[in-house]
This record gives sequence, C-alpha cells and structure tokens, in this order.
Amino acid sequence: MRLFDRFPALICFASAFNSLASALAPSDTWRDADIGQSGYVGGDHNIDPESASQFKQLWNATFKEGERHWAKPLVYTLQSGRQIVFTASTENIVRTFDAATGELIVERQIHPPWPMEAAYCTNVSKSMGIMGTPVIYAEYDVVFFYVKSYIEDYRVPGGASPALNGVYYLNAIYLDGLQDVYYWPIFLDDVPADNDPRKIFLGGLLLQRPSLAMVGNILYAGFGGMCDAFNYTGVLVAVNVDTQKVNRWVTQGGPNSAYTDDWTLWHGGGAGGIWQAGMGLASDGQDVFFTVDNGGGSTDTNISTKAISGKMPMDIVSESVVRVNANDSGVQLQDWFRPFDYQSDQGEDIGSGGVSILDSSLFKTDKVKRMAVAASKNFKMYITDLDNLGGYREGKNGTDAVLQTIPLDGEVYGGIGSYPLEGGYVYVNPAGAPLSAYRFSSSNSTSSGPLFSLAGRSSISSPHARGVGIPTVTSRNSTAGSGIVWVTDAEKGLLAYKAVPVNGTLMEIPLPKVEGAMMYSRPVFGDGRVYVFDAKDKLIALGVK
Ligand SMILES: *[C@@H]1O[C@H](CO)[C@@H](O)[C@H](O)[C@H]1NC(C)=O
Ligand SMILES: *[C@@H]1O[C@H](CO)[C@@H](O)[C@H](O)[C@H]1NC(C)=O
Ligand SMILES: *[C@@H]1O[C@H](CO)[C@@H](O)[C@H](O)[C@H]1NC(C)=O
Ligand SMILES: *[C@@H]1O[C@H](CO)[C@@H](O)[C@H](O)[C@H]1NC(C)=O
Ligand SMILES: *[C@@H]1O[C@H](CO)[C@@H](O)[C@H](O)[C@H]1NC(C)=O
Ligand SMILES: *[C@@H]1O[C@H](CO)[C@@H](O)[C@H](O)[C@H]1NC(C)=O
Ligand SMILES: *[C@@H]1O[C@H](CO)[C@@H](O)[C@H](O)[C@H]1NC(C)=O
Ligand SMILES: *[C@@H]1O[C@H](CO)[C@@H](O)[C@H](O)[C@H]1NC(C)=O
Ligand SMILES: *[C@@H]1O[C@H](CO)[C@@H](O)[C@H](O)[C@H]1NC(C)=O
Repeated sequence: MRLFDRFPALICFASAFNSLASALAPSDTWRDADIGQSGYVGGDHNIDPESASQFKQLWNATFKEGERHWAKPLVYTLQSGRQIVFTASTENIVRTFDAATGELIVERQIHPPWPMEAAYCTNVSKSMGIMGTPVIYAEYDVVFFYVKSYIEDYRVPGGASPALNGVYYLNAIYLDGLQDVYYWPIFLDDVPADNDPRKIFLGGLLLQRPSLAMVGNILYAGFGGMCDAFNYTGVLVAVNVDTQKVNRWVTQGGPNSAYTDDWTLWHGGGAGGIWQAGMGLASDGQDVFFTVDNGGGSTDTNISTKAISGKMPMDIVSESVVRVNANDSGVQLQDWFRPFDYQSDQGEDIGSGGVSILDSSLFKTDKVKRMAVAASKNFKMYITDLDNLGGYREGKNGTDAVLQTIPLDGEVYGGIGSYPLEGGYVYVNPAGAPLSAYRFSSSNSTSSGPLFSLAGRSSISSPHARGVGIPTVTSRNSTAGSGIVWVTDAEKGLLAYKAVPVNGTLMEIPLPKVEGAMMYSRPVFGDGRVYVFDAKDKLIALGVK
C-alpha cells in the first residue's frame, strides 16, 4: 500500500525523478559490498592479479583534524558519466571526489555532530556523526544515511554534550551537488517502538553502525548502544522511502523485557544491540538477516536446556542470528539461531559479526538450497541453512542445528568473504590469526563429509588487536584464475591474495604500501581502482597508472 494520500507532497519525490535513467555503471559500488554481504563483489571492477600487481598510488585525500571515516566510501557514476567517490564522516561532512583524479568536487556539512566529551569511548573520534555506511537509491541518484546530531538543551540542560540531547536524522541527498531531496531529512526521535510502547527512540543513547540495506523501497538500519552505555535497546528501523513510513522494532520487546526510565542505567533497557562491527545487514532481496548482541535481563536467557524452534516467535532476542521482514504493517521476526553454549561465553557474544548469504547457484546441496555463514567473537564460524537458521539446541544432544561449525583461532569482527567460482571458497580472518580459505564440497544426500574444509592460509597473521577487516573478493569478468581476496589490516594496510590457494598457501599479490587501515573496514572498488582509508584517515586510491 502506498501512502501517498497521507503524504501527498511525497508524490514529488516518487515521480519527479522517474524520468532520470539510472547512471549506475557496472563497476560502481553503490552499497557496502553485495546485497547478501557474501563479500564477493563480482567481476565488473576490471581488476585481476596481473593488473593488481602493477598498482600504484593514484591519489590520496586528507580530511580535517580529528575527522574519521567509519562509514566506507561508495563509488558511483553520475548522469554526466563522471565516476565519483562519496564519503561521509564523523564530523557529518559528506564529500564527492573524482574517482580517477581525486579532485574534490563538493563538500557539505549536514548537521552538527554530537561532541564526544560526555561519552566513555572518546577514542572513537572527536565527534560522533555518520558511522554507518550509506546506501545509494540508484534509481534516483540519491544517497541515504543516518546522521547523529544534537539539539541544545533538548531534553536536559547542559547544551549539546549530554547524551540525552543527541538525536538522529535520516538524510536523503542528491549525489550530484549534495543538496537535500525535498521533504527530507526525517527526524527519528521521540517515537515509541512498534513492539514496545515504553521504549522511546532516543537517538543520543543509540549508535547506527551497520551498513544500511536497501531492499526494494525499504531502507533497513541497525542500531546498538553508544559505547554500550545507558538504558538502550537494540533497534531495527525500516523506512519505506517512498512514503516515509517508519517502523521501529526493538530486539528486547514486550512486558518481560528489561525497562527503566532511568536513562543513565547501563543496559537498563535490555541491550541486545545491532552492531556487527559495522558489517552490513544482509538481504536475500526479500528479508533481512543480522545478528543481535548480548541482551541483559532477558527472561528467555534462563531457558538453558529446552530446545526451541527458530520459527517460534520471541519478544526478547539476544546472542542470535535473526531473519526479519518488514512491510508497512511492521517488522516480523521470521527465524533465528542462538548457539547452545551462548551462556558459557565470557563476553564472546555473537553480535560482533554479521551474516553472509552465499551465492546459491554454487553453495547448495541436494538438501539445502541456500546457505549463510556467521562468525563472531566466540571463535566459531557457523554454516547454516538460510531457510532454517537453527533455533536453539535443536541439534544432536541439545547442540546446534547448523550445517557445520568450524572452530577458529580468534575472534571475528565484521564477517567473512566468499568466492563463488572455481569450486567455491569462504574466507575468514580472525584477530591474531592468518587469513584462512575453506573450500566448499557439495556433500549430497549420500555423502556425509564436511561442507567446508581448510584449503589454505596466508603466511602472515593479522594483529591481535581488534580491527581486522572483512575479506572482500573480486574477479575479472568472473574468469577462473582472476579471483583476488582483499583484506584491510589495521597495521599492515591493504593486503591482497590470489583467491585460490596453492599447496595450502594463500599467495600474496604485492601492492603499494598503505599505512595501516581504518578498523573493521573493507576496500571499495571502482573501475580498475580500489579505495581505502588508511590508519590516519587518508583516503587512498590505488590503480594502474
Ligand atoms: C599522498 O600524496 C602525496 C602526493 O603524491 C604523497 O607525497 C604522499 O606520500 C601521499 N600520502 C600517503 C599517506 O600516501
Ligand atoms: C578504544 O579503547 C578501548 C579500550 O582500550 C579499546 O578496546 C577499543 O578498541 C578502542 N577503540 C578504538 C577505536 O581505538
Ligand atoms: C530509557 O529511559 C528513557 C527515559 O529517560 C525512556 O524514555 C526510554 O524509553 C528508555 N529506553 C529504554 C530502551 O528502556
Ligand atoms: C525463567 O525462570 C523463572 C524463574 O525460575 C521462571 O518463572 C520463568 O518462567 C522462566 N522463563 C522462561 C521463559 O522459561
Ligand atoms: C506484512 O507481513 C506480514 C507477515 O509477513 C503479513 O502477515 C502481512 O499481511 C503483511 N502486510 C502487508 C500490508 O503487506
Ligand atoms: C550429551 O551432552 C551431555 C551434556 O553436555 C554430555 O555429557 C554427553 O556426553 C553428550 N552425549 C553425547 C552422545 O554426545
Ligand atoms: C552424490 O554423492 C555420490 C557419492 O559421493 C556421487 O556418486 C554423486 O555423483 C553425487 N551427486 C551429486 C549430484 O553431486
Ligand atoms: C565477459 O565474459 C563474457 C562471457 O565469457 C564475454 O562474452 C564478455 O565479452 C566478457 N566481457 C569482458 C569485458 O571481457
Ligand atoms: C605445489 O606442489 C606441487 C607438488 O608438490 C609442486 O609441483 C608445485 O610446484 C607446488 N606449487 C607451488 C606454487 O609451490
């Protein structure tokens, strides 16, 4: 149902730009990686191991003192044919650069960022602004992003700095010129959650960190805690961008969920944030898949031994992989999986990584049509049936009803990568461990071997410190032998390997030195070029000169 009668003015937004043919080019990166977050970004970026080994630094861009880019850049081709790089920062400054030359085209500050001096986690950046990777509505040459800002003395005295005076806007701006779309932004604050009227959306107590997902005309965003403090509850916000109808679904809802109106009380709202170290919400084109962090005060958490189907509705969701669907009547939980041993963890919860939906044309068996992978802080990588995530203790002897559990050598932040060619591979880079490639074998109803087995590792390990990036894979025109797995390392910068290991080793492709990298990030690709923020927040472009 389109609500134009309720928002008649919005007909302008929906119709005024219909005549614009999308300028999107195949080599563009208009969202964080692919819609399924599989980490395979396709064959259209015109890079192969031969060209990558000839890469030079093409240009770099410097930003303001203290400004940080947790949001990954995007690459887009304007109607004029010019390919641009779009960036969005913690200072709420958005910019476009010429993708080939690095020339700054337009720069604009959207709303003032919230000053961080009142927060506990002041090492994140000087200010708190845009933190989640934007997404482009290619049909209209428009980019969407959530902006953290404040209104002075809005809820409590003290000007800008009390967290309670923080607010969120959802902005929509044109990529050509960076001006607002009419009737945007949307103000998100002060509205109760659909599934718990006590829980009011207070932007200052929340952080929008995972990359946005655009599924049709529904824009999904995950919210978790601000430095894990205050009485927050994780929220999924689903906005119909044509009608501006907003749905807010809290992960801890209903009368049994934790609640306090003391906003300063740590985890007083039950927590259950959606964080994923910034990895995007994954979609199969219909539903959205993500992980929910640990929730405090959950009544469900004392179900220690009873098996529960993932199709069972749950008011309180924590430490889980979930599948939800949104339409104008709200957000519904469709399916979920919670590890059987989640209670024994020591803060090694599942919410540090996202969900990757693998390419179902290759990653399937006689019995399982579609698969997903989730890896998090608990040193495990779970391969699940996308259509039957696993519930709780539904497996043998009360264990996990997943397709395979692969033990890892470290914590995973963000997620995994995959390569749906040459037999199929999945890549994971735990903190303090080498990048590891697991080869797929489609065990069918008559064979019972593991679906994935270790095929190779990089010779170097990532630093123990948090901040390893998400493996991201390219090929040249989907040709065998052209696959490259890229990974950002907080200390070593940008690394690249041939996607198919040789004799148990992932073979490194030499690249020009990048001085470290933004934590939990991944490189972004244009036409024969790769873009990455280094550890000092310089935007670096590499390519063949
Ligand atoms: C940025 O580009 C300048 C000019 O080419 C170069 O001197 C400088 O080393 C580059 N900075 C980094 C961090 O690569
Ligand atoms: C901030 O400091 C905490 C505690 O030392 C650390 O765990 C976290 O990784 C740091 N974050 C950043 C962005 O440096
Ligand atoms: C946190 O407290 C505020 C009152 O200060 C209340 O409006 C809000 O609903 C509470 N949030 C949660 C998630 O419990
Ligand atoms: C959790 O434990 C309490 C106390 O034993 C019990 O009353 C409650 O029903 C349990 N919750 C669930 C969902 O089983
Ligand atoms: C929304 O989705 C729910 C469950 O998927 C369905 O029952 C309902 O009919 C849908 N509503 C609309 C307006 O499409
Ligand atoms: C089943 O689980 C129990 C409790 O964890 C354990 O003691 C037992 O050895 C398990 N049995 C099998 C067959 O794995
Ligand atoms: C299934 O496995 C059996 C035994 O390993 C093999 O003979 C058969 O070709 C496989 N079928 C498919 C469709 O892969
Ligand atoms: C990509 O591969 C297809 C099929 O092999 C071929 O028809 C096409 O010309 C190739 N495109 C490029 C740009 O190489
Ligand atoms: C891989 O192992 C085979 C057999 O031992 C050997 O012939 C080949 O040279 C090795 N390849 C590389 C790249 O080391």
